[in-house]
Amino acid sequence: MTTVIAINGSPRKNGNTAALLQKALDGAASVGAETEMIHLIDLNYRGCISCFACKRKGAKPMACAMNDGLSPIMEKALHSDAIICGSPIYLGDVTSLMRAFIERFGFINVSYEKKRNHNFTGKINAAFFYTMNVPKPLHLLFTYVYLFNTGILRKFNGKVEQLISADTLQFGDYSKYDASSFDEEKKKEARAKKFPKDCRKAYEIGRRLGGSASSSNSLKS
Ligand SMILES: Cc1cc2nc3c(=O)[nH]c(=O)nc-3n(C[C@H](O)[C@H](O)[C@H](O)COP(=O)(O)O)c2cc1C
Repeated sequence: MTTVIAINGSPRKNGNTAALLQKALDGAASVGAETEMIHLIDLNYRGCISCFACKRKGAKPMACAMNDGLSPIMEKALHSDAIICGSPIYLGDVTSLMRAFIERFGFINVSYEKKRNHNFTGKINAAFFYTMNVPKPLHLLFTYVYLFNTGILRKFNGKVEQLISADTLQFGDYSKYDASSFDEEKKKEARAKKFPKDCRKAYEIGRRLGGSASSSNSLKS
């Protein structure tokens, strides 16, 4: 069976990012995949501590020496057919939760050897979902982040898709916040009209990742 895991880098378990990731998992499940949602906020872990144990001569391939809440998740991700990372944009980048995950999961796959540029020999298809407050034309401000994360995920030898959900609703009731830069009505309209389209795109991405043709990771247990 194809296995698909979603990794939520938002601290909000019921926010925009989690909603899109859940739609993608629903799409994957609709074509028979086994799915799981991981909320990084629930885990006790840190980013890479630069011990370089993963680059030592004779080191076990793709193994991170840090032993914390992220260890079983990394193991699970390495043995799944597809992973879907999701993060809000925080001050121009992914959240620290997601960044720490990428440091750990991405760096074990980086090779310092001339003969290969990455270590992973299986195949994991992937997607990266981004959510953000800015409206669509401004999302291009974050192009560097998109390219960077796509590049990291490509080194897992599968296809990588991307979804950008802009103009998200940040609060349920804008009147309770000092947020006069935002027009509550326009924000609610975006939520009612644009967000459902993004949810449909997420669902379709999930279907593609969860299809049996995507079941391909030779390292799967
Ligand atoms: C600390 C913080 C920083 C943010 N920085 C940005 C930003 O740089 N650009 C942007 O468009 N939105 C920014 N946002 C808005 C979030 O990216 C947006 O509301 C997102 O959809 C929240 O996702 P969530 O509902 O899954 O938590 C920021 C929000 C927070 C809390």
